[in-house]
Amino acid sequence: MSLGKQDILAHFSHRFGQAPRWIIRAPGRVNLIGEHTDYNDGFVLPLAINRAAWIALRPRDDRRIAVYSVDYDQAAEFSLDGLRDEKAGWVEYLKGTAWALQDAGLHLTGWEGVLAGDVPLGAGLSSSAALELATARALAVAADLDWNPATMAKLGQRAENKWVGVNCGIMDQLISAAGRADHALLIDCRTLDTQPVPFPPKTAVVVLDTSTRRGLVDSAYNERRSQCEAAAKFFGVKALRDVTIEQFQRAAPQLDDLTRRRALHVITENDRTVQAAEAMRHGDAVLLGRLMAESHRSLRDDYEVSSDALNAMVECASAHPACYGARMTGAGFGGCAVALIRADAADDFVQKTSDAYQKKTSNDPAVYVCQATNGAEVV
Ligand code: GLA
Repeated sequence: MSLGKQDILAHFSHRFGQAPRWIIRAPGRVNLIGEHTDYNDGFVLPLAINRAAWIALRPRDDRRIAVYSVDYDQAAEFSLDGLRDEKAGWVEYLKGTAWALQDAGLHLTGWEGVLAGDVPLGAGLSSSAALELATARALAVAADLDWNPATMAKLGQRAENKWVGVNCGIMDQLISAAGRADHALLIDCRTLDTQPVPFPPKTAVVVLDTSTRRGLVDSAYNERRSQCEAAAKFFGVKALRDVTIEQFQRAAPQLDDLTRRRALHVITENDRTVQAAEAMRHGDAVLLGRLMAESHRSLRDDYEVSSDALNAMVECASAHPACYGARMTGAGFGGCAVALIRADAADDFVQKTSDAYQKKTSNDPAVYVCQATNGAEVV
């Protein structure tokens, strides 16, 4: 059971003895396909999921934000004037987001409330983007600001890049801001154009958490980013998004092996992502599944961001007869895989895949069907 409106309402009432003025929900995400393409100005195809960060709040007359985190059983308070990074844990995501909005010239006002979430931390389901967008939405509603999903996603990304210090692309914040119920979003990470894409009939999306968490993700991520930049420079373009497969093939022999394989992944993955959206529009689950499987192979062998646990999970999932395709999802090195399956076989798939993975790795996985939800909203 995921966290809901009644839960956050109860937490607020318990603490403040009355109902909140607003309730905000901002989702985590799972990416169907289009991995490590966002920072190459390419395409991604994520969905916002029914796991989210929730904030219930009421306005204050001063310029202070006071929040109680249910999950950490901890209260934190700060002033909107003279924000400073104090490396104080979860509250830095709120401060960073407030900083980004104010730095963009937006006038903010104070509020107080409670925060709770059920996006697992460090699993690659974007719990931090969910928290940033929930904060942005709370700040916006309290100060009566316009809500533009793409603008707010960029400010959330700015908070993550500059305040939290993680050099991520735009995917996580944009899907958390702009997600659409029952749809995935094809996002052009250059123009930030988003197109809702329906799922093939009678399919379900399954999140498969390997329950492994990896350190060193940041350094490997930054290394991949510089390798992509080097490849773009070699081709004389702004980003790898601008290189076609034909151009790549012509020039490939002149590239060193590592740069060649990194670029190969990004260029083919962009192509697969656009094809995947097309397949979904035609209701073609078989093609979508095949593209997901190819994406995994490319991430494993050429981009080298998978892990033994992720590979084991993808093998177990793919072996089930109801599975159209499976792949690692998110930055990699641990965390989650995603699978597209026949909806009528969901229970059997969840059971058998969990058992097979546990037997193979001795890890305790968390496997669940997820629903595609709206992006950050006042509920
Ligand atoms: C992380 C980043 C995203 C994206 C993915 C890989 O989730 O936050 O911006 O780069 O990795 O696709």
